[in-house]
Amino acid sequence: MTFDRGDPATALHQAAPAASPGRAALGPSGTAVEGSAARPEPVPWLASLTPATHGAYHSPRDRPDGVLDFSANGNVIGPPPGTADAIAGVDVTRYPDPTAHDLRAAIATREGIPADCVVAGNGSTELIWAVARAYLGPGRTALVCGPTYGEYAVASAATGASVQIAPLLWPDGRGEARDPAEFAAGLARCAHESDARMIWLCHPNNPTGEALPVRRLGEVMRAAPEALIVVDEAYLLLTDGLPSALTGIESGRLAVLRSMTKDAALAGIRVGALLAAPEVVEIVRRVVPPWSVSSVAQAAGCHAVADVAHLRRARAAVAASRDHLVDGLRRRGLAPRPSVANFVLVEVGNGRLVAERLLERGLAVRDCASFGLPAHVRIGVRSIPDQERLLAALPDALARTGDPIHLRSGQA
Ligand SMILES: Cc1ncc(COP(=O)(O)O)c(C=O)c1O
Repeated sequence: MTFDRGDPATALHQAAPAASPGRAALGPSGTAVEGSAARPEPVPWLASLTPATHGAYHSPRDRPDGVLDFSANGNVIGPPPGTADAIAGVDVTRYPDPTAHDLRAAIATREGIPADCVVAGNGSTELIWAVARAYLGPGRTALVCGPTYGEYAVASAATGASVQIAPLLWPDGRGEARDPAEFAAGLARCAHESDARMIWLCHPNNPTGEALPVRRLGEVMRAAPEALIVVDEAYLLLTDGLPSALTGIESGRLAVLRSMTKDAALAGIRVGALLAAPEVVEIVRRVVPPWSVSSVAQAAGCHAVADVAHLRRARAAVAASRDHLVDGLRRRGLAPRPSVANFVLVEVGNGRLVAERLLERGLAVRDCASFGLPAHVRIGVRSIPDQERLLAALPDALARTGDPIHLRSGQA
C-alpha cells in the first residue's frame, strides 16, 4: 500500500477566479460577495488522506450503556490509587508548565536517562504526529512495518511524505519469517529499497501482540543510513520484562514512544512520552504545540510514574487476564495468536459480523478489517469476570455469522 503525495500548492496572492454560476461566496456578514468564489486550497496530499480507525467504544450520545469495552487495550486494574486526589489539587486557572519539567524528570529517572532525552505529549499519538512532522515531508518516504497501528501511516502521509508498508507481520503466513535475524534482514531490505527516512515499528505490535527483535536494528540502520527508527512501546510496560529499544536512543538514530494512556490507564487524560537523544528531542519539541500536556495530565502522570507497585500489579493482572482469555478462546475451538501484550488477536471467520453480534450483547471487540485482517478480531484484556461474559457469548456470536471459522493450532 502506498500513499502518494501531490505537489505542494503555492500562489500566495492569486487573483480570485470568476464566481461559478449559482455559487456565490458568502462575506463575513453572511451576505454574498461578488466575484470571490475562490476557496482556500488545502495541501494536495490531504485530499486522499483518511483518518485512522481506532477501537475504544463510545456509547451513543455519551450515555453509559453498560457495554464492556474489549476494543481498547487497557491495564485491567485502572489508574493508580490517589489519581483523583492528585489532579484535584491542580489550579486549572493557570497555564501548565510548557516544558512539563516534573513529568519529564520523573519519566527520565524511572528510565535511567537524562531529562533532556524526554518529550512529554498529549498522549503518544501527539508525539507520533510531531516526530513525523519533524523528519518527514514531500519527497521523503516513511516505511511502516505492518499490519500495525494506523496513526503511523496517516501521520506520515499528512506531512506529504509517501508511505510504504513492509508487510512483515501478517499473521496468516504472508509475511516473512518471524525468526529475528530474518525479520531484521527483511526490514533492512525494505528500508534500503524504499530509501526510508523514517521506519515505524510497534513493539509489542498492535494488533498481532508479538514482540519485535528491537535489539537487532543495527542492520536496518546501516541499510537506511538517513532513517530515524521510531519504536512505539505504548504497551511495553505492561508486558513481562520485554526488552526495550531504549538502549538504541544514544545513536541519535532511534526514538522510543511510551503511553501512560495504556500503562497507567489515563486514556481520557492523555499522557505520553518520546525518549530520544537530546538532538532528536530538541527538534521534535519545536513542533509540539505549547501547553499541549495539561496541568491535570502532568499531575496525573507524575503521580502514576511514582507508583511503581501499581505498575507491577497491572503487569501481573494483564498476564493473568491474558492467560485466562487465551485459554478460554482455545477451549472454544479458536486459535488465538500468541501475545505478549494486553490484547489478543484471533481469527473468527468474519470479524465485522462477530463484532456486531457481540455488541448486541453489550460486548465491544475490535474488528480488524482496518488492519487488513477482516477475518480477525482483537480483544483487549479485562478482568476475569468480564472475560467470562465475553467467552460465554462468543460461541453464539460465532455460529450466528454463518462464516466458517478456520480452526488452527500451534500457529507461530
Ligand atoms: C500502538 C499504539 N500506539 C499509540 C497509541 C495511542 O496511545 P495514546 O493514547 O498514548 O495516544 C495506541 C492506541 O491505541 C496504540 O495502539
